[in-house]
Amino acid sequence: MSEEKKIGGRAFGRELNVQEFIDEQVAAIREQVGDGKVLLALSGGVDSSVVAALLIKAIGERLYCVHVNHGLLRKGEPEQVIEVFQKNLGANLTYVDATDRFLDKLAGVAAPETKRKIIGEEFIRLFEEEAAKFTDVKFLAQGTIWPDILESEKGVKAHHNVGGLPEKFGFELVEPVKYLFKDEVRAVGEALGLPKDMVWRQPFPGPGLGVRCTGAITRDRLEAVRESDAILREEFAKAGLEGKIWQYFTVVPDIRTTGVVDGQRTELWPVIIRAIDSVDAMSAVAPRLDWDLLDTLTRRITTEVKGVSRVLYDLSPKPSATIEWE
Ligand code: XMP
Repeated sequence: MSEEKKIGGRAFGRELNVQEFIDEQVAAIREQVGDGKVLLALSGGVDSSVVAALLIKAIGERLYCVHVNHGLLRKGEPEQVIEVFQKNLGANLTYVDATDRFLDKLAGVAAPETKRKIIGEEFIRLFEEEAAKFTDVKFLAQGTIWPDILESEKGVKAHHNVGGLPEKFGFELVEPVKYLFKDEVRAVGEALGLPKDMVWRQPFPGPGLGVRCTGAITRDRLEAVRESDAILREEFAKAGLEGKIWQYFTVVPDIRTTGVVDGQRTELWPVIIRAIDSVDAMSAVAPRLDWDLLDTLTRRITTEVKGVSRVLYDLSPKPSATIEWE
């Protein structure tokens, strides 16, 4: 293994020089990888996207990206990953639509932590199967960032990037953003020309919309989560709130409430709007949203989203509540 170069900014008490970082990192990747090939699980999140862009710059088509759609992604996400990386940057990209596989495994499972476990384990299993197809690939790239390492060291949480894979397949790791904080990763992403909405994305949990379709996930209710989330993001963007509010999404709980349409009684789902201001996700408060915005959201969600008759805005701070509903 070649000697590691510690290329970074604030992690070493200095301001990051973005252009210098990119040049040095591209050279370091070329040195580490030689004429070898690299595999990357590309989720479309900030970290893996920036890693992909850096590797494409360094080794072009010797990077093999695998984008797994577990069926719990937001509307338009797989399409954006394909558009940006395959069409625009010419990446070698394998797209795996594993929606049925994940939703079948999750059918009837209501306990939140069991859902998380199934999604996490199934993801690793699937990626292992895909990785096994790349017999001549020696390197595995990961979007590990500096806070992941600090938190693992302090024992706050286990480092959650594709655990176990390197050992199992004898991969050597390539972790080009390992010594960067999130804002530095974003600056590098912008300089590499990634779309602004990809670089400035709000945090999105690994289990995706699965923890926002509470209880046992059904396809129709999951679709209500996806569609209402898309409307929420669209209206927040129109209102100039994109990038200003830490995180915003919708939840569709596993309950039905009584409604009335054209004089007929209905039993449909409520949609809960969750928007929070935070600095580190450890504590959070609900922002004072404009009434007209809430009004527009309510009208659009109740008319455009199938199976929904009611909209609520969750004002709960963290603590007492967590940001996600489960
Ligand atoms: P909570 O709900 O614990 O969320 O207040 C804090 C932050 O973490 C995100 N979150 C997750 N991220 N896997 C993830 O990768 C998870 O299982 C998970 N659960 C919560 C959440 O979206 C928020 O930003």
